[in-house]
Amino acid sequence: MRVFVTGASGYIGGSIAQKLCDSGHQIVGLARSEKKAGLLKERGITPILGTLDESRLLTDATRRADAVINPADVDHAGAVQTLIAAMEKSGKLLIHTSGSSIVADDACGEYASPVVFTEDTYFEPLLSRRPPLTVAYARPGLRRRFGPWSSARQ
Ligand SMILES: NC(=O)c1ccc[n+]([C@@H]2O[C@H](COP(=O)([O-])OP(=O)(O)OC[C@H]3O[C@@H](n4cnc5c(N)ncnc54)[C@H](OP(=O)(O)O)[C@@H]3O)[C@@H](O)[C@H]2O)c1
Repeated sequence: MRVFVTGASGYIGGSIAQKLCDSGHQIVGLARSEKKAGLLKERGITPILGTLDESRLLTDATRRADAVINPADVDHAGAVQTLIAAMEKSGKLLIHTSGSSIVADDACGEYASPVVFTEDTYFEPLLSRRPPLTVAYARPGLRRRFGPWSSARQ
């Protein structure tokens, strides 16, 4: 599978890209400097030089991929909108990583919540931590499964 991964030189994206690479997938990674592009190449990842602000570049890379994983920046709404638009009606998979704290109980240490989140738990992100964006997923069903914002399990 050809997978486009943003943040491929970072902690989360780098771990995902490496695992996929080791499993035999063809990885194209977004890199925002020549130096990072070189590091990706050394790891068997094909670099694309650019940033999350370059919608044309993101669109092209997305259209040439079978799936897209976007762990570079949880708060970059513009990139998410671009990726979704590029994948619309394609049936391809888009995974956008967020952080577990968006489904926290906001107890702030004041009480012990009895809620246990599992992979099948439907959740609504905390209003205080939800970005001003609701996303629609490229595949029917995912939105209901993961809620209106977020996606991948870290
Ligand atoms: N690590 C965690 O435990 C954790 C938990 C919850 C949420 N998050 C969130 O998940 C995201 C990634 O975390 P991380 O720990 O993997 O961070 P990281 O190690 O700093 O990696 C971020 C990656 O994204 C790239 N990147 C960032 N902004 C970009 C932009 N505008 N255009 C192109 N590339 C960009 C960085 O490129 P460079 O290499 O050039 O800097 C790097 O490859 C962050 O938004 C973070 O807040 C992380």
